[in-house]
Amino acid sequence: MEAEKRQKSLAVLYPGRKSEAARERLEEVLDFALKGAEAEIFDEIGVLKERPLCLKGRRLLFAVPLGNYGINREYYEILAWLRSGEQVLSGSLAGMVIDAGSEFYTKAAARELAVAASMAGCGFVGRPLVEGTKSLDNFLVQASNMGTDRMGAYRNSAGILVRQLLDFSWERKKTPHLLVLHASNHKTSNTLALWDQVKEQLSGVEIREVNLRNGTLVDCSGCPYQMCLHFGERGQCFYGGPIVDDVYPAVKWADGLLLLCPNYNDALSANLTAFINRLTALFRTTRFYDKAVFAIIVSGYSGSDLLAGQIATALNMNKTFFLPGNFCMMETANHAGAALSLPGIEERIRRFSRMVRSTLMEEEAKEPLP
Ligand SMILES: Cc1cc2nc3c(=O)[nH]c(=O)nc-3n(C[C@H](O)[C@H](O)[C@H](O)COP(=O)(O)O)c2cc1C
Repeated sequence: MEAEKRQKSLAVLYPGRKSEAARERLEEVLDFALKGAEAEIFDEIGVLKERPLCLKGRRLLFAVPLGNYGINREYYEILAWLRSGEQVLSGSLAGMVIDAGSEFYTKAAARELAVAASMAGCGFVGRPLVEGTKSLDNFLVQASNMGTDRMGAYRNSAGILVRQLLDFSWERKKTPHLLVLHASNHKTSNTLALWDQVKEQLSGVEIREVNLRNGTLVDCSGCPYQMCLHFGERGQCFYGGPIVDDVYPAVKWADGLLLLCPNYNDALSANLTAFINRLTALFRTTRFYDKAVFAIIVSGYSGSDLLAGQIATALNMNKTFFLPGNFCMMETANHAGAALSLPGIEERIRRFSRMVRSTLMEEEAKEPLP
């Protein structure tokens, strides 16, 4: 009963509400969005120090004012809490409203928050971010679609996110489908070596692997919207080729998408980026709220969290995929074979495989997602 009540109410984690970063506009947006919802506001960070696990298993809205310079000191305390290494948000599900007094920093803050919270066990619904830049120009298209002004679109979007958070339910499958995309060389690849080990622990999951490294993959050409829609409605894209013939049908078939991501200059490789860009035509007609995204990320030296953030912004915030708690495995290994020799790697492979299974498979669901 208590658990059910917690599912239906929203915990609003609101750092810096009374600080120099505070934004009056954010108060107005939240007032509107939370009307009629059962919401408990946490604007004192002290409570998380006293009871660090008190938000486990909750539906959660992060409300973050960023002031004029993108800085909110209490928000950094939240980041430290999330990065403590404990699963302080295991079983929680979140969205974010981030408001700034400048044109910048909202997306960067959302990206780092999503990665930190996911690594602390928190899932994110598809399209979990409502951001207000200073001018609110980011709402120009939505305002016109909704027949309102920018502030109206901001308020409405936050209201839609609150409802989405309260209504979301995740459906697991008896025999889930997992699409694995990669672009590495089988003989030397660390990401593929890790995937081979993970795959062994995914019995009962139907797996399709697609290699994007065939030399014919071209990036999105950025066609005009109507042209993209024209092709998208026919299940196609201006360029055609393997993305349209093999990858679009496989994405539609999949319940989960697993990307194998070597760190190339602190970013996803060109093939994976092209895949994400080319998803735009499919996105014109298809939303991905009911598909999960996972990743195995390997960096030679450092920076895997940057790629995790890139996946969170591109596929969860922009393209609506569900981002599960602990959605990615991040390792540091350079030479061929090095990833499998890392200390503790077997345990991390086991944990990651279990997370993929329990996100996708009915019978694995011991701890329900919220
Ligand atoms: C073009 C290229 C760029 C790279 N850039 C980085 C980098 O910016 N940071 C880093 O830590 N490692 C970098 N690396 C190293 C790879 O991330 C590392 O070797 C990783 O194990 C590759 O995964 P793979 O074996 O699955 O391809 C780079 C490697 C290549 C080939």
